[in-house]
Amino acid sequence: VSPVAAAVQLVPLQEGHLDSVAAAAGEEQVARFTRFPVPIPDGWVRSWFDGYLAGRAAGTREAFAAIDPGDGRFLGLALAPHIDAEGQELELGYLVTPAERGRGVAAAVLVQLTEWAFGDRAAVRLSLMIDADNLASQAVARHAGYRLEGTLRSAYFKQGLRADCQLWSRLNTD
Ligand SMILES: CC(C)(COP(=O)(O)OP(=O)(O)OC[C@H]1O[C@@H](n2cnc3c(N)ncnc32)[C@H](O)[C@@H]1OP(=O)(O)O)[C@@H](O)C(=O)NCCC(=O)NCCS
Repeated sequence: VSPVAAAVQLVPLQEGHLDSVAAAAGEEQVARFTRFPVPIPDGWVRSWFDGYLAGRAAGTREAFAAIDPGDGRFLGLALAPHIDAEGQELELGYLVTPAERGRGVAAAVLVQLTEWAFGDRAAVRLSLMIDADNLASQAVARHAGYRLEGTLRSAYFKQGLRADCQLWSRLNTD
């Protein structure tokens, strides 16, 4: 992270953010390194969001928009795609829109998402799945105190794509 952490606020993802999500979803790095489909089918972002709304109600998933606290502009997404409340484990994820990259936004997002998971969700174990070629995301994980546990070789990632995926974790005792 740069000496001064990027100013970022996480707010629950709402319908009003979906145009920004759709704009970010088709970008090359997002297509390559996240589970967003390629190409994004018509209506997919809406049904993806509906899945998160259902997960929010059930306590099994959560999605935040990362916004600039100054002017409210959309900076990216902070996600908990899997919440196991009984096991006190969450898988987390994030993306930053291309125009906002390279100034510590993702690092600030992951630090806040991690604090939320350990605090609000009483998590014991947090995990991240990161493509072995995604060096930027690996740097973000390291900055936020995550440790590399190992590599899942040629893991099924999404339709048409297998990849070497690193499993990173952080425990509430780390
Ligand atoms: C990965 C991603 C979230 C990083 O966002 P960001 O706001 O630019 O990240 P930050 O500025 O907080 O930090 C990036 C770190 O990666 C490093 N980095 C950036 N590009 C890099 C590259 N190509 N190779 C190596 N390191 C790189 C930066 O130097 C910085 O580390 P440093 O602080 O030690 O210098 C963003 O590129 C993104 O949204 N990518 C597409 C989606 C994605 O990959 N999500 C993560 C899925 S696991």
